Amino acid sequence: MQYLEKAVEIAREAGALLANYYERRVAFESKGEFDLVTEADRASEKLIVERLSSHFPSHGILAEEGGGHESASEYRWYVDPLDGTTNFAHSFPMFNVTLALARGEDLIAGVVFVPLTNELFTAERGAGAYLNNRRIHVSSAKRLAESLSSTGFPSRKRQHNANIYFYYQLAMASHGVRRTGSAAIDIAYVACGRLDFFWEFGLKPWDVAAGSLLVQEAGGRVSEMEGAAHSVTGSESFLSDNGALHGEILEIFGEVFRGEMRYPMPELAASR
Ligand code: IPD
Ligand code: CA
Ligand code: CA
Repeated sequence: MQYLEKAVEIAREAGALLANYYERRVAFESKGEFDLVTEADRASEKLIVERLSSHFPSHGILAEEGGGHESASEYRWYVDPLDGTTNFAHSFPMFNVTLALARGEDLIAGVVFVPLTNELFTAERGAGAYLNNRRIHVSSAKRLAESLSSTGFPSRKRQHNANIYFYYQLAMASHGVRRTGSAAIDIAYVACGRLDFFWEFGLKPWDVAAGSLLVQEAGGRVSEMEGAAHSVTGSESFLSDNGALHGEILEIFGEVFRGEMRYPMPELAASR
C-alpha cells in the first residue's frame, strides 16, 4: 500500500509540473528525426527520480530519459515522465505521467495520471483497478464487429513498422480504431472499458508496465500480438483486451502476420 500511495503522490506532483509547462508552451528538440523531447520530459523525470530515490533508496529505476539507476534490489520502478510527448509539443491535450513498480518479474503497483482531465488510474496486484478511487472493469463487448479499439505508431524507426496493415484490417472489422498518441492512456482506457482493446509494436517497458497491471486487475488480458505471454522487458509487441475478444483478435492478427488480408486494400484510382 505504501508503494502505491507514494507513486500516486509523485505522479500528481509530476502531472502538475507537466500541466504548468503545457500552459506555457515549451520548445521541443529532436532525439531522432521524428522523435521529440522537451524540457518538460526532463524536469518531470528529474522530479520523479529524486522523489523515488529519497523514499526507496535501495530500489532500481528504469526511466525513459535515462535518469534512473540499476540496483541489486528485486524492486524496480518503470517511469515514463511524459507519455505523449508529440501531442504535448503540439498542444494536443492528450498526455500523462506513468509509474509502475515490479518485484522481480511481477508488477505490483501502477499509476497513470492524466493531469488535464485530473484522471488517476491506479492498480495494485490482487486489489483491483481504480479510476479516481472507483473500481473499474474492462468492457463487456463480445464481438469484434462491435468493438472500439486503439493502436499507435512509433516515432522512431517508423519505416520498419508494419502496423498499417493491422490498422486497416481491424478498422474494417470493427466500429473503429483510434490513435491517441499516448500508449499509457490507451491501455488505461482498456482497463476502464472506454476501449475494448489496444495493440502496438515496439513499446518500451515504461509505456506498458502500469497499464498491464491496470488491465489485468480490471479483468482483462495482456499478451503479445501472436498470443504468447507478455514480458514488460522482453516483448516486441503488446496486446491488451477485455478477455472476451482475445480469441477473435488473435485470429485476425494471425491472418495479417501470414499475409492473408481479410479485407483487401482498395485500389487508389478506384476509390476516387
Ligand atoms: C509514445 C506514445 C505513443 C506511442 C509511441 C510511444 P512517448 O511515447 O506512447 O502513443 O505510439 O510508441 O513511444 O515517446 O510520447 O513517451
Ligand atoms: Ca511513452
Ligand atoms: Ca516519454
